[in-house]
Amino acid sequence: MIRRRDFIVSATAATLAGFTMKGKVMAETKNSPKIKKYPNEYFYKADGTFDEAKAKQAYYEMFEAFGYPIVPRLRSEEFWAVDFGLGNFAEVGMGGIFWVNNEKDNYFGHDIYLLPGQMIPEHRHVKTDFSPKMEGWQTRHGWVYIYGEGDPTPGVENRIPPSHREIANARAEKKLMPGEVGELGGPEEWHWMYAPEGAIVTEYATYHDGSGLRFSHPDVVF
Ligand SMILES: [Fe+2]
Repeated sequence: MIRRRDFIVSATAATLAGFTMKGKVMAETKNSPKIKKYPNEYFYKADGTFDEAKAKQAYYEMFEAFGYPIVPRLRSEEFWAVDFGLGNFAEVGMGGIFWVNNEKDNYFGHDIYLLPGQMIPEHRHVKTDFSPKMEGWQTRHGWVYIYGEGDPTPGVENRIPPSHREIANARAEKKLMPGEVGELGGPEEWHWMYAPEGAIVTEYATYHDGSGLRFSHPDVVF
C-alpha cells in the first residue's frame, strides 16, 4: 500500500529529476521545433522606430511552429508586442494578450510570448488601490528561466542578458519545461523571465493594475 506521504516524496523526487537529468529534459523537448531568431535591426524601421507589425509576424511564425492556435483575438489589436522603449527588442521584448483581467472578482489570465533570446524586463507589482498582483506561470511550449528573489543561483550572472547583468535584483533561477509551473515568491517581489530558445507561457494571476508596475531598469517605458 502506498501511503500518502510516500507518494508525495516520490513525486517530488521525480520533479527534481526533471530539472537535473539530461535524458528526461531531452525527452520532453526533442520534438520542440527550433524557432527562428532574427537580428535586432529586423524589428526596427528605417527611422529607428519599433515595427510592431514585423514583431507580431515573428510571433505568428512561432505560434505556427509550436502548433499554438491563432484564434481571431490574436489577429486583433488585443495582441500586442512591445520593446519597453529600449530599442533592443531581440533581447528585451515580449508579445502578449490579456485573455481576461477581471477587476470586480480579482482574477487575470495572460499568455506571454518570447522569441528566442527575449526576456521580460525585471519588475515587481506594488500595492495600489488593489493588493499587489500575485502570479504563477506555466510553460506551454519551449522553455524558460524564471528569476525571483533569494539566494543567487551559482553561475547565474553568465546567463543574465547584458541589459540586466548589473541591474537584476532577482537572481534565484528556476528552469520551467513544458507543463511545469513556477510561482512568485511573495507580494511585491522582483521577478523576470528569459527564453533562450523561445517560449509560450501562460500566466495565472490576480487582477493586473498597470499603475502598480515598477521596473528596475531606469530606461524601461511601458
Ligand atoms: Fe509580473
